[in-house]
This record gives sequence, C-alpha cells and structure tokens, in this order.
Amino acid sequence: MTEYIHFELGAWSARQLAAVEQALNRWVAPPEPRPAPAGLGDAMRYAVLDGGKRLRPLLVMAACEAVQGSPAAALRVACAVELIHAYSLVHDDMPCMDNDILRRGKPTVHVKFGQAQALLAGDALQALAFELLTPEDGSIDPATQATLCRMLAQAAGYQGMAGGQAIDLASVGKALTSAELHDMHRLKTGALLQASVMMGAACGAAPAPARNALCDYGAAVGLAFQVVDDILDVTADSATLGKTAGKDAAQDKPTFVSLMGLPASRNYAQELLSQAHHSLKASELGPTAALSALADMLVNRTS
Ligand code: IPE
Ligand code: IPE
Ligand code: MG
Ligand code: MG
Ligand code: MG
Repeated sequence: MTEYIHFELGAWSARQLAAVEQALNRWVAPPEPRPAPAGLGDAMRYAVLDGGKRLRPLLVMAACEAVQGSPAAALRVACAVELIHAYSLVHDDMPCMDNDILRRGKPTVHVKFGQAQALLAGDALQALAFELLTPEDGSIDPATQATLCRMLAQAAGYQGMAGGQAIDLASVGKALTSAELHDMHRLKTGALLQASVMMGAACGAAPAPARNALCDYGAAVGLAFQVVDDILDVTADSATLGKTAGKDAAQDKPTFVSLMGLPASRNYAQELLSQAHHSLKASELGPTAALSALADMLVNRTS
C-alpha cells in the first residue's frame, strides 16, 4: 500500500493523459495539412491512438515531477516512449512473432492493414519517436536532447527491447533458468519502463544518489510489470485484457508462471513492489507520490 493516502492517482493520471492524448493526436502522422503517403499514416494512428493504458507516459510524467523538471520536455519524452512501445506491439503481434489478432481491444495492425504496412508503421513510429526528442523550438536543450536519444536508443535496441524480443523468440519450447528468464524480461519489457523513469528524470536535475535510486525503482517496476503480464495471461480473459489470453502456454513461451507457478509469481511481484517503494524512499526526493501510486497500480492491475 502506498503511504501517500491523500494522493489521487485517478485525477492525476486523467490530467496527464489528457495532455498526452492531445499531443499524440497532433504529432502522429496528422492527416492535415498533408497525410502520410499511401495510407501509412492511418496504420500509424491506428496503432497509437485510442488505446492502451499509457503506463510508460505516466511514469515519464511522474519521474519528471519528482525532480521538478520541465513538463514540456516530459510531454515529448512521454510520447516518444509510447511510440516505441506501440511500434514494439505492432511487430510483436505479427505472424512472424506472436501471431496475435487482438490488441487493445481491436484487430491487430497487420490484420487491419496487412503485414507490409504493419512493418512500415512500426518503422515509422520508431523514427518519429526520435524526431519528437529533437525539437527545434528550444523546448529541450541540445545536450538533453542527445542524452534522451541515447537513453531511448539503448532501451529500444539490442541491449533492450529488441534484444529481449530476440531471446523471447529463441526461447520458445525451452525451460529457461531463473537467471535467463530475468534477463529476458529485463530486456524485453523492463528496459523501456526503466528508461521511462530515467528519461523523465532527465527532464530535470537530481543528485546522483537520487538518480541511482530512481534507476533501482525503474528496474523493480519494470521487472514486476512483466511478471504481472505473465500472470494476467493465465488468469484474465481476452475481453478484460484487450488481447488474446492464454497465448504464452499455447505458444510454449517460458514465463514466470511456467517457471515458478502462480502463487510464487504473485509473491514475487509483491516483493518487487516493496523494493520499488524502498528505492523511492531512498531517493529522498520530495514529490514522489505519483511514482509511488503508479508502482502500486502497475503491480496490482487487472488488465
Ligand atoms: C503489453 O504492454 C506488452 C508488454 C510489454 C508486456 P502494456 O500492458 O503496457 O500494453 P498497453 O500499452 O496497455 O496496450
Ligand atoms: C511483448 O511481450 C513485449 C514487447 C512488445 C516488447 P509479450 O509478447 O508478452 O506482450 P503481449 O502479452 O503480447 O502484450
Ligand atoms: Mg511477445
Ligand atoms: Mg505478444
Ligand atoms: Mg504477454
């Protein structure tokens, strides 16, 4: 339980999300004044708008708030991270990967627009993420732009999400050790969630010990998030999840549930949540109520 009993996550999130949704609508291949060629913009917007819990943008905004950073910079970072996430989902769902037909309660992008367009939409969303981080309007200073680009590139690439996805695909039908499973989850999901926290923090200034503590917080919630994703794949239904439930077992994917069973996985998620709260406290930053409440929400979510 969070100790910030007076903090209302719902109202805080609604405020942040209104800004994020508006920004995404404005920045992701807008139909005016000139639409993206050959319907590519439609596929991009379909992949990003009207769906998703937007947990990564919320982590960005909360981390920025914790260091009292620039909200304008954080809004760009929040959208950039969400674009990388949305692109990763488009590709994750394709027949050559998880072969899923349902995402965010809608047919997947390749089902709706075809595989080639889904591939290109993912490519274009990834590129757009970096464009958002490098504005010419002075809202992010050049040194911070470079730092943010490096952090996002590392979290998205072979040392992060793409690397983790490669391990995931190579692990089908295999019984991974606990260490191997941790590595896979840290890369495929944890890296981008941790980067959301650290990039949000990079929108302001914090002493090194506080940054290190936020880094630990990000690692704990990042790993907890995928443990919960594995649990929900077994315990929730497709309508609640907005994606096909039971896919991991059907595709013989190693998960925390297959490794340690359901009760131990649940306990582990709670243990990671405690670690996240401990790190947050150790940061000695003042305004961490949103980060604290988000950790609770991320781990105790039902969809
Ligand atoms: C699902 O992520 C994919 C994983 C990285 C496990 P989310 O559960 O955050 O998906 P959306 O954004 O809410 O659709
Ligand atoms: C996907 O993991 C992680 C990324 C997209 C990077 P999963 O394959 O478990 O995600 P879901 O369950 O399809 O959302
Ligand atoms: Mg997958
Ligand atoms: Mg999948
Ligand atoms: Mg999953």
